[in-house]
Amino acid sequence: AKPVIVAIDGPSGTGKSSTSKAVAAQLGLSYLDTGAQYRAITWWMVNNGIDLTDPTAVAAVAGKAEIVSGTDPAAPTITVDGVDVAAAIRTQEVTSKVSAVSAVPEVRTRITELQRSLAAGAERGIVVEGRDIGTTVLPDADLKIFLTASPEARAARRSGELKGADLHATREALIRRDAADSSRKTSPLAKADDAVEVDTTELTLAQVVECVVTLVEEKR
Ligand code: C5P
Repeated sequence: AKPVIVAIDGPSGTGKSSTSKAVAAQLGLSYLDTGAQYRAITWWMVNNGIDLTDPTAVAAVAGKAEIVSGTDPAAPTITVDGVDVAAAIRTQEVTSKVSAVSAVPEVRTRITELQRSLAAGAERGIVVEGRDIGTTVLPDADLKIFLTASPEARAARRSGELKGADLHATREALIRRDAADSSRKTSPLAKADDAVEVDTTELTLAQVVECVVTLVEEKR
């Protein structure tokens, strides 16, 4: 069968990662977390003392870090210059800084190339999750999903993940990051015209996965 390409976009806390991993595992496809790639390049920049408020400084080093993503949905990995950064990219520091880095066009060009080459190399196909996959990275994807959820549901899911995090602060930080991601000039967070929107507010993870798997099977 021809490889199947699935794009899953949406704001933070809508269940993109859990859904994408489960769909990929169930269908025997590869999986790519593109947010992890933007977090990884942000981690490298923080580590190397780059002034993230200066887009020219960020652009100048956009190609310096070697970012490698492992695409097995059962055990996704991410390394920067050979170092496993899976845990380091989830800190509050990286989370609060990633939107500034991902808004720089040179960074996006670089990371988009990586994403397209991983998608092209996936023999059986791939589920790619992010913000601009359906609009920009893989506009010819076989299926595009746009996940949404109420801000309350999203903040509650994130606080659950970050054990003990303050719900109000999490909600404010999420809203700020989505506003930045949606309003940037280059390739903002947006629903593609041909994407299927799924509101996950009242759905369990299993229900969302079943819905997406059914849509993929309809396309095959
Ligand atoms: O999905 P996650 O929350 O890990 O994404 C982290 C950040 O990476 C987002 O807030 C956004 O700034 C950036 N991102 C992006 N384009 C993507 C995926 C993520 O700009 N396709």
